[in-house]
Amino acid sequence: EGLLETRVHAATADEVGVLAASFNEMAAAFQSMLERERRFVANVSHELRTPLSALQTASDLLETHRSDFPASSREAVELIAEDVANLRRLVEELMEVSEVDAGKAIIRWEEVDLRALAKAVVRKLHRQTLIDGPAVVTMSDKARLERIVSNLVHNAFEHGRGTDVRVTIGEQNGSCRLSVSDGGPGIPADALPHLFDRFFKADRSRSRERGGFGLGLAIAFENARLLGGTIEATSPNGGPTTFTVVLPRRSAPPEDGP
Ligand SMILES: Nc1ncnc2c1ncn2[C@@H]1O[C@H](COP(=O)(O)OP(=O)(O)O)[C@@H](O)[C@H]1O
Ligand SMILES: [Mg+2]
Repeated sequence: EGLLETRVHAATADEVGVLAASFNEMAAAFQSMLERERRFVANVSHELRTPLSALQTASDLLETHRSDFPASSREAVELIAEDVANLRRLVEELMEVSEVDAGKAIIRWEEVDLRALAKAVVRKLHRQTLIDGPAVVTMSDKARLERIVSNLVHNAFEHGRGTDVRVTIGEQNGSCRLSVSDGGPGIPADALPHLFDRFFKADRSRSRERGGFGLGLAIAFENARLLGGTIEATSPNGGPTTFTVVLPRRSAPPEDGP
C-alpha cells in the first residue's frame, strides 16, 4: 500500500533510463486502473440505492398485507423481503469499502470505554455473551469500533455453531485488546491468511445459506487500520476461534493521523 506511488528517478538515456521510464508508466497505469475500479464500485452502489429504497417500501407494504395473500404467495412475499434486506446490506457494505478506499473516511475521536461498548454491541445484536476484563478507556471512534466488534460478535454466533461466545478486554504495554472467541469448528489453517480479503468465505456452502457476503472481516480490518490498530485471528488446529483487535491506547487524539 502506498507502494504504487513509488517512481524511479533515473533520467539517463541508457537502458536503466528506459527501464525506469517504463516502470513509472506501468505503476501509473496500475494506479489509475485501481482508482477506476474503486470509482466503479462506488458508482454502482450509489446507483443501486435509489431503486432499492423503492423496492424496500414496496416490500414493506406487501408484508403489511401478508395475511391478505393466499398461503401459496406468502412465501414469495417473505423471500422478497429477505432478499431486499440482503441487497441493501451488500450495497451498504460496498459503499463502506469504497469510502475507505477513497481515503474519505472521517474519524471522530472521543473517549471510549471498551467494556461498555462491547456490552452495548451485544445488547443491540440481541445476544448473550460473557464479557471479561476491566474497563479500558481509550481515544477512539465509537461508531467504527462498534462496527468492528459487531462484525466479530456476529461472526462468532453465525460461524460458531451455537457455542458460548466470550468477549475479553485487556490492556498491556500501551495497547488495548479486545478478543472475541467461540468454541465452534474453527477455521482451516490454509484459510487463515485470507480471512480479511474481500468476499472471502472459508466455507462457501454454509455461508451462502447464512447470507453473508464475506465483506464483514474486510470492513472490520479497514476500520481497525484507520484507528491505528490491527486484527489477528487464531484457530489452533481449526479448533476454537479467537479474533483479537489490538489498538494503541491513547489519552488524546493522534497529532497527525493514526
Ligand atoms: N468465528 C468464526 N468461526 C469460524 N469461521 C469464521 C469465524 N469468523 C469468520 N469466519 C470465516 O471467515 C469468513 C469471512 O468472514 P466475514 O468477512 O465476516 O464474511 P461472512 O460472515 O459474510 O461470511 C466467513 O465466511 C467464515 O468462513
Ligand atoms: Mg461476517
